[in-house]
Amino acid sequence: MLIGVYQSQPVFGEVNFNVEQVSNDLPEGTADLWVLPELFNSGYQFASKEEVADLAEEIPGGRTCRAMINLAARLRAVLVFGMAERANKVCYNSAAVVGPRGFIGFYRKVHLFAEEKKFFEPGDTGFQVFDAGQAKVGVMICFDWIFPESARILALLGADIICHPSNLVLPYCQKAMVTRSLENAIYTATANRLGSEARGGKKPLTFTGGSQIIGPSGQVLSRLNDREKGWAVAEINVEEARDKKITDYNDLLGDRKPEFYGRLCE
Ligand code: ACM
Repeated sequence: MLIGVYQSQPVFGEVNFNVEQVSNDLPEGTADLWVLPELFNSGYQFASKEEVADLAEEIPGGRTCRAMINLAARLRAVLVFGMAERANKVCYNSAAVVGPRGFIGFYRKVHLFAEEKKFFEPGDTGFQVFDAGQAKVGVMICFDWIFPESARILALLGADIICHPSNLVLPYCQKAMVTRSLENAIYTATANRLGSEARGGKKPLTFTGGSQIIGPSGQVLSRLNDREKGWAVAEINVEEARDKKITDYNDLLGDRKPEFYGRLCE
């Protein structure tokens, strides 16, 4: 199976341009699964709640989801992408999963970062794993990375690959995801963006690129730099993520001792 990450440079508020850019840039026949950045269609630095509400769309009924379902059919690939979601008069920082046959599922970001707390409701879907045909895919969004519980629960739920749409501004995540892969024996695909935004008189945000695909032993299978828009692909073997044996005596998930982890579950 081939999986890819797309590293974009969106223009804030230009939904048509941002969606078309992806559609023009992703090549056919190159990957079975593509992961795109967080909020890929809108940009990140919102100035007000009204602006979020204007740019948010329904999942799966909104125009971005519909365009992405068409793109998935053309590419014959599963697409995982972040976008602002409007539902019942509130907004979530969400990610949708679509494939050639249509909508597969969505996830609402649990751990909101910085000012996102002013603009979005915390996610209420819980972490979920979706059947993407050749692989089981779990989804987490950007800052979820700093809570190891996010990746661990996705591994426990049976994910082979963690798809990780991101808009990273701190420089640590790419290194941490190597450990998330290793400690869960799982593939991770982090799709980040480039560029800077300075909106609403706020401190500028610069996004760190470095989109990457990491293997279950923590190997860097593919990584982009912090300057170029584009994509990277890696060949993966899902069986490697299903084998949780570390030695003949140790199983990564089977050897857990939840009876000693009480406070982790509070
Ligand atoms: C982030 O969660 N966008 C840093």
